[in-house]
Amino acid sequence: MPIIVDPHGYVLETAHHAYAIGLTPEKELALRYWGPKLPHRDDYPPLPRHEGWASFNGAEHVTPHEYPTYRGNKFTEPCLKTTFADGVRDTWLTFQRAIIVDEEDTLTLRFDDDHYPLRVYVVYRLLADIDVIERYVEIQNHGDTPITLERAFSAMWHLPPAGRYEMIHFTGRWFDEWQMQRDPLPRGITRLDSKRGTSSHHHHPAALFAHPHTTETHGECWFATLEYSGSWALLAEHTDFDTVRVSMGVNDWDFAHRLEAGASFIAPSVFVGYADGGLQDASQRLHALARRKVPHPQQLRPVLYNSWEATAFHVDVQSQKRYADIAAELGVELFVMDDGWFHGRSSDAAGLGDWFPDPKKFPDGLKPLIDHVKALGMQFGLWIEPEMVNPDSDLYRAHPDWALHYPTRARTTARNQLVLNLARPDVQDYLIDTLSRLLSENDIAFIKWDMNRNLTEAGWDGPEPKEVWWRYVEGLYRVWGTLRDRFPRVIWQSCSGGGGRADLGILRFADQVWLSDNTEPTRRLPMQHHYLMLYPPNTLEAWVTDMGWEQMPLTFRFHVSMCGSLGVGANITRWDDAQQAAARDLIAQYKAIRHIVQQGRVYRHEPDPRGGYYALHFVSADQRECALFVFRAYSPEPAHPYYVTVRGLLPEARYGAAALGISRSGTGWAHVPLRFDLQPFESRLYVLKAEYDGEYHDF
Ligand code: DGJ
Repeated sequence: MPIIVDPHGYVLETAHHAYAIGLTPEKELALRYWGPKLPHRDDYPPLPRHEGWASFNGAEHVTPHEYPTYRGNKFTEPCLKTTFADGVRDTWLTFQRAIIVDEEDTLTLRFDDDHYPLRVYVVYRLLADIDVIERYVEIQNHGDTPITLERAFSAMWHLPPAGRYEMIHFTGRWFDEWQMQRDPLPRGITRLDSKRGTSSHHHHPAALFAHPHTTETHGECWFATLEYSGSWALLAEHTDFDTVRVSMGVNDWDFAHRLEAGASFIAPSVFVGYADGGLQDASQRLHALARRKVPHPQQLRPVLYNSWEATAFHVDVQSQKRYADIAAELGVELFVMDDGWFHGRSSDAAGLGDWFPDPKKFPDGLKPLIDHVKALGMQFGLWIEPEMVNPDSDLYRAHPDWALHYPTRARTTARNQLVLNLARPDVQDYLIDTLSRLLSENDIAFIKWDMNRNLTEAGWDGPEPKEVWWRYVEGLYRVWGTLRDRFPRVIWQSCSGGGGRADLGILRFADQVWLSDNTEPTRRLPMQHHYLMLYPPNTLEAWVTDMGWEQMPLTFRFHVSMCGSLGVGANITRWDDAQQAAARDLIAQYKAIRHIVQQGRVYRHEPDPRGGYYALHFVSADQRECALFVFRAYSPEPAHPYYVTVRGLLPEARYGAAALGISRSGTGWAHVPLRFDLQPFESRLYVLKAEYDGEYHDF
């Protein structure tokens, strides 16, 4: 039974880990234990007595509360901050009862305010098989006057005391996303957030906490990720009592939510977990989680072509057919037309909002191109940017009030565009109708959903103007969710000028994300390496483009993109016969291993910055096949070796790689290092197969 009621509270056990909570004398919820599953039930400790220190640091201040509210002598960052109608601004929640439902994998604890009709349900849901716990809260107003929520985070959690911790998180900017940071947690409060209305290029709503000695393959690590695509915040407080408390949720900056009488607010879920096999172990749990979210978890992603980098906005029937002809020859399976196809769109200055084919470029609509693409044996995909509008568009001329704005302020454009106010139900309905028409009138298998700026002048004329950030994201989810449900076969991609909205929340709607507009392979290697710490490779779209072509061979560029869902975005009309033949071979090789890459387990190797090496390998779900990639990005160092061992194979089975001339057991591959002495921009791909059957796929 994964949820155990013991004399001290509740123990939540997953396959390998446990999380124990209990009630304080004040009937607040606090953490008893978080770590590996313990052998005996009475191993789980009771809630320790948290003695106060001084009148300034009472017991309330030092207790590891699970959902602290602003009240009394706590003076810690609360998860919940309210204002009641009479001006009272603190919240005293007392435990009422616990409910265990859903075949005993969900524990819901009810807390009521001592005086006001405010009720909070704190929910824990076990994803026991993948060692992850989902946490969220539902806040209800049972009275007859509104209550204002000024912060309504999803959860707080605490790292076991007596440890030194580093926080691993991901920062970036446009064209430079997914930089990994690993820093000791300083005393005080570290805040990561987005105030942009999206999860953003700049910080990512997930973090791992590890000891300084934790590596890819060894040591403990605690992790958390938020299922939300709007403005968010994470607060990590390293206290003067040498404890670490972390909370996360919808950003409370410029946030307020007017909880009407009878209404409820459900905070987005945070998923937390513990792993003791190094960062790798945490990644595999996070991958399993993301795989559960995407709309088409089992489907192998087709190899796509997209001409954006070759043509920019200059698309029309004839030129797109030309690209499609060559793409089909190369073995591409999905032909995607990017920006530039719709009414008035010849640059980024006009057209957004008018989602019908430009009559000059596509006089007979999209059908002739789609028919051509399908006759070549490919599926057809299309780019859209539904949340945006150019002032120079029919939509804006008809509905200038639909764009986010303050009536007294100028409207700030970015890339010549404004943001539609998706908080408005009429805007949502318009988008649902318009895009439904586009998808029903045309045979479209794939949609790339872009978003090329962040929210400004977030005006809203509802009773609580600051609700707009939250309502916008709810509106986005409603539009996208309705389309996903109406057109269940469509594969969706989330793009926001590269990786500006690549989060767990969006992966419930999108099967894959666009990592960055930077496709230069040596920049992509670290970005992909870091992205794969959190998300699985079938969600990672990776194109071979012309960036880096002067220095890097085609094989190197392809190998980098073959570590995710392969696409081609180069100007293939300029490739000569030899390049086309090489690309055809590499695409065929990818198709032979994509089930290993996309659906398998990823094992990252520690990069070697001195030699410029990166390596990773993928082990198929049945552990019978493995694809190993090794890269040497340019490095000024002279020749420098790199050693790789292949973990994750069945220990007893024998695996062979003909190109290496090696056959040995899974244990042998894990312990006998392979030595690589690569030249700059040289890469290798080897396929290991269990029980050699005469059919190696070696390249
Ligand atoms: C930004 C995306 O990241 C690019 O791939 C491309 O789709 C452009 N937008 C189109 O405007």
